[in-house]
Amino acid sequence: MFSAPGRVNLIGEHTDYNDGFVMPAALAFFTYAAAASRSDGKLFVYSVDFDEAREFELKGTGPGPTGNWSDYVRGVASVMRSKGLPIGGANLVIKGDVPIGAGLSSSAALEVASATALLGISNIQLDGREIAAICQRAEHDYAGTKCGIMDQFISCFGKANHALLLDCRSLDFEPVKFPEGVRIVICNTMVKHELAAGEYNRRRAECEAGVRHLQRFLPDIRALRDVSESQFASYSSDMAGFIRRRCRHVISENARVLEAADALRSDNLKRFGELMAESHVSLRNDYEVSCDELDLMVELASRCPGTYGARMTGGGFGGCTVNLVEADAVEDFKTTVAGKYKQRSGLQPDIYVCTAADGAREITVQAL
Ligand code: GLA
Repeated sequence: MFSAPGRVNLIGEHTDYNDGFVMPAALAFFTYAAAASRSDGKLFVYSVDFDEAREFELKGTGPGPTGNWSDYVRGVASVMRSKGLPIGGANLVIKGDVPIGAGLSSSAALEVASATALLGISNIQLDGREIAAICQRAEHDYAGTKCGIMDQFISCFGKANHALLLDCRSLDFEPVKFPEGVRIVICNTMVKHELAAGEYNRRRAECEAGVRHLQRFLPDIRALRDVSESQFASYSSDMAGFIRRRCRHVISENARVLEAADALRSDNLKRFGELMAESHVSLRNDYEVSCDELDLMVELASRCPGTYGARMTGGGFGGCTVNLVEADAVEDFKTTVAGKYKQRSGLQPDIYVCTAADGAREITVQAL
């Protein structure tokens, strides 16, 4: 039995595929994969939650996205085989409690749980960085989202009670401990996000267009990560307006993540919260990946006593907000935000008070 967690991103949104910085935490919501090997080279997968089974030949698991949940598992197995990893046939039973389509990386949890299970029963040891890269590739080729590395990485490397400051270029990371007395509260707008629907990949292409523009003045840059805020101010004036705004978000967000890590290290939650608020405004106005429901949820949360910071989390266009709230204020926060959100949007939100969890692992209980 293997498990992999979902995640929440505290700050650093849409920076990972720009070689930048992110600060996610793994959540104590998991996808579980029970696994047994089989000798006929087939991969059989059953989802308890969807009550649906699929079977594939490992030799040729078929091309691209079909839109079914099993794409993620099939994708992981195919990428492993194409890398020459000698995984064998398997029966997998999958079940999980990561909310689906809520921006909490249920797909990364499914990929990483499947990868860990397939490797585990084949007795193959692989570094978490390689597992994350395989799962990211599966998401690109079998789900059609050209995602960065953040979600798969944190699902592999999460650490209980810590967020991870991750450099998405070098993949160096530093766990940063959460101060006592503060809770991560996640508010689900109940509006489903549709990342694969094209907007996500379009944002990525717009950032790449921004890099090409800036390379005319700064030939050594490879990604927006390499551009300082002052360089950007000097060389961005004749960019197309929307490309300029996309780049401004990414460049300012990278700076915010580094400052937020300093703030968290020194228990300065007030500053951390201000940076979260700035991040949300930048995602809303410059990157244009928020929506009315996310903005409303952030506005309501920000007005609650005891809230240090609130922002949308994940890819956007729906899904969840992340909030840092004083432990003593959490109950009032939940009642107030849920009540007012329902009143103004007509939707009943789910609100989760979360703890940061460890990353993927085998959880088989050995018989004594
Ligand atoms: C999705 C992607 C991540 C990242 C976020 C936005 O979750 O899977 O790689 O780009 O959106 O920060």
